[in-house]
This record gives sequence, structure tokens and C-alpha cells, in this order.
Amino acid sequence: QTYNEIYRPQYHFTPGKNWMNDPNGLVFHNGVYHLYYQYNPDGNTWGNISWGHATSTNLTHWTEHPVALLARGYPGELTEAFFTGTVVADPQNTSGFGTNGTVPLVAMYTSYYPTSQTLPSGKSVTGGQQAQSIAYSLDDGYTWTTYDAANPVIPTPPAPYEDQWRDFRDPFIFWHDATKKWISVISVSQLHKLLIYTSSNLKQWTLASEFGPLNAVGGVWECPSIVPLPLDGDETNIKWVAQIGLNPGGPPGVTGSGTQYIVGTFDGTRFVADPDPLSPAPTSTEPHGPNWMDYGPDFYAAATFNGLPYLSHLNIAWVNNWQYAGVIPTAPWRSMMSIARRISLKTIGGRAVLIQQPMADVASLQTKTYSSSFATVAEGNQLIPLSEKTLDVTVSFSDRAAVSSSSQFGIILRATSDLAQQTRIGYDFSTKRLFVDRSKSGNISFDGTFASTYYAPLEPASDGKVTMRILLDWSSVEVFGGQGEVAISAQIFPEDNGIDAQLFSSGGSTGDVTIDAKILGSAWG
Ligand code: FRU
Repeated sequence: QTYNEIYRPQYHFTPGKNWMNDPNGLVFHNGVYHLYYQYNPDGNTWGNISWGHATSTNLTHWTEHPVALLARGYPGELTEAFFTGTVVADPQNTSGFGTNGTVPLVAMYTSYYPTSQTLPSGKSVTGGQQAQSIAYSLDDGYTWTTYDAANPVIPTPPAPYEDQWRDFRDPFIFWHDATKKWISVISVSQLHKLLIYTSSNLKQWTLASEFGPLNAVGGVWECPSIVPLPLDGDETNIKWVAQIGLNPGGPPGVTGSGTQYIVGTFDGTRFVADPDPLSPAPTSTEPHGPNWMDYGPDFYAAATFNGLPYLSHLNIAWVNNWQYAGVIPTAPWRSMMSIARRISLKTIGGRAVLIQQPMADVASLQTKTYSSSFATVAEGNQLIPLSEKTLDVTVSFSDRAAVSSSSQFGIILRATSDLAQQTRIGYDFSTKRLFVDRSKSGNISFDGTFASTYYAPLEPASDGKVTMRILLDWSSVEVFGGQGEVAISAQIFPEDNGIDAQLFSSGGSTGDVTIDAKILGSAWG
């Protein structure tokens, strides 16, 4: 595979060709990370939704495999598409799918039925219906068999939500060891509700509780998950974090999709949000708002790996936005995945805050490094030797008035010498906001909302340092502020003639600046 087209990510996953959306069925099994994803085997826009499949042993180098669940009827008239879902290993063979001691992998996903039909199970479904089905693999995730004897295992939403059969989707399943039960969290999307089901065998499911609406309720709720995390590393103080996609209804300033999180508790049947779980607002004029996992426009359908050690969680999300996903200027593929992010919970400013840290082993791709420190960066712009298209660069600087008089400081990437093209990543000292400005980032013409600036609230550390870690790839920036308490992810589509990097210090000088960069090679070929 040659992965060198303009805009082709060099260390983020993309399928060789065709459309991709949500990550699905993330599972670490026998030393292998499996990434399935919403995939159109036949083209560059959404359709024929199947589960594509890729694997990795280091979350950096991925190998694409044949489609794992091919839309039923494809390439003819579709009778079932395989929407978003999850995979678990079933080592105790509770499902009975395992034979001769094989550990079955079991997937639960949303069946979308384009037409009314009677299924092999004898169950009848209506055109447009979404229902939950299961499939299993006896070869460690490479080939799958749908459970036709009984699918869909959860055909309709329960009373009083029966009328929501068109918007009942995205089951997140996991093993809850304390109650020795499987849990499935399913979204009743239009009502901003999550339903929690339990099961002892992955086949029969019992409704246990419901949660929501709460906090951000724009658009529909999709792709939920709930994960346990120790607060401040204290395993006697375990919180549960619900991650929920909203489309549209993303963070302030984002048109289209976004992902919120809600910190709470879970006892095996009920998720209860902690009181007052709101974040500082990203603009000083707005009241406190929901917790956004990412303040950028391109971080959706975040999913978390099953199969990692207890309390260890890694996320991957779709780096795109339904607002313009179908028209981004890439070919022959469309859409990339985020870098894998380790998530943890830390008390910051008196609140339990989700911390995200990039976990892919990008250091293994390092070709060169560049480090520099400046007691003071004078007002204006200054070229730095990072004329590159793939970087892992950390920039830190002081907000202290004694050393910094500027109003904004940051780094410009993918710039032409006249700055007609540039992506600005910086910090605004007076409003205490991290920002990514992609308004001149290259090709911005395919969508009227694309050329924008995105802001995240970020307090300097107690020593006055502001830190931003930026992962630059050929068509994206993922920016982590502070310890990772805020992130901004944004696609960019720059022309190849603009690769310069500059520091900018606006309205004054900036002190105690350090730059630590790894120049990355390609994970492909
Ligand atoms: C989220 C989503 C899911 C659905 C899938 C269909 O991006 O809309 O709710 O299962 O995409 O591809």
C-alpha cells in the first residue's frame, strides 16, 4: 500500500480506500488491538454499512484485514446493515458460542433493516428499524458468524419508548465483575436517554435502568460508553465516566458533532451522575457548560477498548464531523481515526476532570528531534526549523506578567512564507483559552463552517506554565492542553507547498518558552 496521497495520514489509521466512520468493537485480545469500523466496501461516501477491520500490536502500525461483517445483501439489495457496536471476549464461554475450549469473541451491534422482512429467527422487522444483534468469532476476531437463530436479541426499545424503534442504537457491552454480569448501554437517540441492560449469557438481556437527558442534549445521543476510572489514581475511589456523542450539538463554536462526558457512579444496574458535573465555559462570557471530551470539530463516536487490565482505558474516535464528513477532499479514502488516547480522572480546580494522553507509540517513528528554549520570544513571528508535515511537538511558556507581556502566544504550522496558508495553535492569556485556528489552513471551501477557530478553557499550571502538545499529521492536528485536561482535534487540508513553522507572540513578548519536537516518519509501507 502506498500511503502518500496529499492529505493521507502517516501515523493515524485510514483504510486504504473507501468511506469510514465510527470505531467499533475495540478489543485487546491475545496481544492484538482490534479496530473495527463503520465502512462502505463500495465507495467514498456513507452506505452499505459493514464492519471493516484492522489490527495492531502497538497502536501505531495497523494492518487492514478483510471486512469482518459485510452488509447483508451486498452488493445487491441490502437487507441489513451493521451499525456501531462493541466486542468482548467471553473467556468463560457464558454465551456457549465457544467450542473445544476456544474463547469466543462476541460482538453486539445495531442491525439496521432498510426493508420490512421476516428474519431467519422468525422475528419480523420494519423497514427503517434499528435493533440490537450479536455475532461471534471463533478465530480471534478475523471471521464472524451472526447469531441468526435469535437475532435481533433486543428487537425494540421497551415501553414507554416503543415508538423510538428508528433511533435505538450503538450498544456498548462490557463485563461487570462485581455483579458477574454483562452490561449493555444503548442509546434512545432522539430522547437523549441511555438504557442499561444486563445479561448472564450475552443472548438474553434484561432492562435494568435508564439515564438521561442530562447536560448537553443537542441533536441526538449516539455511541455511548461507561467506563470505571480511579479518581487521582486512588483505586478505593472509583468513578464511572459516561462518554456520549451528540450530533449535531457539539461544543460551543463547533457546528455538527461532539462528544461529552459525565462523571458519576455505577453499581451494576444504575448510572448516577455526580452533582454539579459542569465545566468552565470556553468563553469567559458563557456560564459553565457540559464537559467536552474534545473542544475541536473533529472528534466523534469515541469508543473505548475492552480487554485491557481493569481500570485501564484507551479511546479511539473518528476524526471527522457529520457536518462535512461526506465532502472532505480526500480520495480514495474518507476519514481517519484519532490517535489512541489513554484516559484517566484527576481532580483539577475541585472537579473530577477527564485527562487524555496520546498513547500510540509514535516515538518509534521518530526520525529527528528538535529542542530549543528561549528566555524571551520577542513580539512578532519567528521561523523555527520545523518545516515538517508530521510532528509530535510540545510547546510550553509562561503566563506570568513578569516574563510575558503578550496577549497571545503559539505556533503556526503548515505555513506558506507569506502566511496565506497557516494553521495557528496558541493560547489567549486574557481569556485563558487554548485555540486552534484553521480558517486559513488550506482547502476550506468544501463546507461553509469549516474555516473557524476553536477554543478550550485552560488554566495555566500552578507555576504559571502553559503546555500544549500537538500531534500534526498530513491532514490533522490533535492538541492536548496542560496535562491533557482539554483537547482540540481538527482536520486540515493544507497544500504541500506550505510546510513552514513559526512561533508567534502577539501584543508583546513571551517568556520561558521551550519547544520539544519529534519529527515523525510514516507508519505505512
Ligand atoms: C454515529 C452513527 C451511529 C450509527 C452509525 C451508522 O456516527 O450515526 O449512531 O450506529 O453512525 O454508521
